[in-house]
Amino acid sequence: MSDVFRFDIAATDGAARTGAISMPRGTVRTPAFMPVGTAGTVKAMYLDQVRDLGADIILGNTYHLMLRPGAERVARLGGLHDLIRWPHPILTDSGGFQVMSLSGLRKLDEQGVTFQSHVDGSRHHMSPERSIEIQGLLGSDIQMQLDECVALPAKRSEVERAMDMSVRWAERCKTAFGDQPGKAMFGIVQGGDQPDLRVKSAEALKALDLKGYAVGGLAVGEPQDVMLAMLETTCPVLPSEKPRYLMGVGTPDDIIKSVARGIDMFDCVMPTRAGRHGLAFTRRGRINLRNARHAEDTRPLDEESACPASRDYSRAYLHHLVRANEALGGMLLTWNNLAYYQDLMRGIRQAIAEGRFADFMAETQDEWARGDI
Ligand code: GUN
Repeated sequence: MSDVFRFDIAATDGAARTGAISMPRGTVRTPAFMPVGTAGTVKAMYLDQVRDLGADIILGNTYHLMLRPGAERVARLGGLHDLIRWPHPILTDSGGFQVMSLSGLRKLDEQGVTFQSHVDGSRHHMSPERSIEIQGLLGSDIQMQLDECVALPAKRSEVERAMDMSVRWAERCKTAFGDQPGKAMFGIVQGGDQPDLRVKSAEALKALDLKGYAVGGLAVGEPQDVMLAMLETTCPVLPSEKPRYLMGVGTPDDIIKSVARGIDMFDCVMPTRAGRHGLAFTRRGRINLRNARHAEDTRPLDEESACPASRDYSRAYLHHLVRANEALGGMLLTWNNLAYYQDLMRGIRQAIAEGRFADFMAETQDEWARGDI
C-alpha cells in the first residue's frame, strides 16, 4: 500500500515485466487479471471468493452504474467500495466502449456522446468531463479516459478520426481529473490495425504524462496476430516505467502472449461469461460441460487445483447442472475459471521474477495442447 499511486517494476524478462501498482486501497501485483464486476457484482461470485482466489483489483463499468443504480445514488450510499463490500482497488471503464456496444440510438461528436439507455430507453449525455465526474462519484481508484473505439475492420479515415478525437478527450479528462495523488487516470491508445496511427496515439498520450496507459480498440474482430502486432508497435513507444493495460483481453493464450510483449494488466468477461455458459478453462485447455461425453465422468475438472469448484465436483454433476440450467452450474464454473485465470497470473509473475518466462510460456501452451482426454 502507498499514500500515492505508484508503479514499481521488480523484474523484467525480455519485454515481460513483474511488479506492483500501489495505492491507498491496496497493492496490485502485476501482471494482473481484473475480474469484471460490470454492475457492482462479479456475476455468480461472492467478492470474498474473488479476493481469496488472488484478485487484487476488480473492474466496474461507468455506463452500467450511471444508468442503474446511478452515480449520485452510489455516492450517497458511501461509494462503490462500501456498497459492494470490496475495500480493495477498483478500476472503472469510462463508458464510451459500452455505449457503442450496448446502448440504443446514439450520436457522437466532439462534445461527447448522447445515447439511449438499454435499461429503460431514457436519454443521456456523456462528455469526457462527465465520465470523470461519474468515476469520481463511484470512488474509482483507476479511472479511464472517455474514448471512441472503432470496430474492425474499419476505414482508415474513420480509425484516424476516432483516434485523434480520443487524444483530445484524454486531455480534457486529464484536466477534469486534476491532481489526486492516491488515484490515477489512464489514457487509452487507439488506432485500430494501423501501426502508424497506434504510434501517433501512443506518442500524443505519452506527452500528456499520464499515470498509466491502456491499449484499446483490440479484440474487436481482428485476428490474434494483428492484435499482437499492434502491441509490438505500441508498447515500445509507451513509457516503460508506467503500467500498461490491454482492455477487454482475453483468452489465456492472448494473455500470456501479451505479457510477453510488455502488458501488465488485463480484464475480460471471458472467464465469468463462459462459465455461465458451461465452458471451463483448465490447465489442460477448455472443457465444454454441455457435451454429452461428460454425463458419467466422475473426474473433477482438475484434481490438483486448490479451488473446491475445480477439485471436488465431478464433471458428471457439472454437466447435469449446466444441462438443467441450475444457477449452481454457472457459479461453480465461474469459480473454477477465475481460479484458473488467477493461478495463471501467479505462474506468470513467478516465472518472470525467476527469469524463466519463455520456458513457462512454452510449457503452459504444451499443457493446453495436450488436451484433457
Ligand atoms: N474495453 C475493451 N476495449 C476498449 C476500448 O477500446 N475502450 C474502452 N474504453 N474500453 C474498452
